[in-house]
Amino acid sequence: MDNKEIRFAILPSAGLGTRFLPFTKAVPKVLALAFDRPLIHLAVLEALAAKIENIIIVISEDQESIKHYFAPDPQTEKNMWDKGLGIIAEELKSFREKLNFVYVTQEEQLGLGHAVLSCEQLLVGEPFAVILPDDILINPEPELIRMINGWRQHQGNYVAVEHIRSEDAPNYGVVEIAAHQHNESRFKVIKGMVEKPTIGAAPSDLGVIGRYVLMPNIFDAIKVTSPGAVKEIQLTDAINACIENVATYAYLIEGVRYDCGTPHGLLKASIALSSQSK
Ligand code: G1P
Repeated sequence: MDNKEIRFAILPSAGLGTRFLPFTKAVPKVLALAFDRPLIHLAVLEALAAKIENIIIVISEDQESIKHYFAPDPQTEKNMWDKGLGIIAEELKSFREKLNFVYVTQEEQLGLGHAVLSCEQLLVGEPFAVILPDDILINPEPELIRMINGWRQHQGNYVAVEHIRSEDAPNYGVVEIAAHQHNESRFKVIKGMVEKPTIGAAPSDLGVIGRYVLMPNIFDAIKVTSPGAVKEIQLTDAINACIENVATYAYLIEGVRYDCGTPHGLLKASIALSSQSK
């Protein structure tokens, strides 16, 4: 593999968003506002900052509004300037000028691994990033840029991690770090990964958060991955199955991660983004 660029990002967005009911009866969760921009807008902004050109959004059948959000609309951008929203209008303009959007419909929500697999035909031989719009990362230098820089030096599969509380392990993929890797570097070799371990069974306190850089042979691994935790086809299990053959790294983020999978987390992210924008 001599491809030295990450040109594609998958943004899985088809989740049911049950924790955001009744809002998600009518609106996809990824269109919820984190302060002044929808979650998915922030995810695309991060991809753009990392010089990714192709955005693949995995949607469900009733999520046409996500396509509508990114449809080119210079008139709305002009109106936004008139309302003092010029910075966000410029972002929308750069999305339509610099990015290619592709939508993949996931007919059944069978898990994150399944969502990624549904993009296989668009990614023949291409390494790619995965950005979970639920997770907002705030850091002066986007963490995804750092992950991709690491990937350029040593290709392999990368997952972003942060320190988690032991009682929260059942909500995360948790990584096991190679013994000699407990050092100062933010990049650590992974020996194993487990999705949603029970409390006490987690191999470390490093939980996977929603940024990945993956090699294209992950698709073959997902295809033979059986439903695992919460009876879903788990991306963590597929990455774990590749560890013998593909160098696999955790990248410990430097900034702060907000879990916007709950209204409370979204509120905290909104407050952080609002104070940042002053
Ligand atoms: C997904 C991943 C999990 C990861 C988490 C981060 O889980 O499967 O490994 O730790 O995102 O947000 P989910 O939140 O969809 O249950």
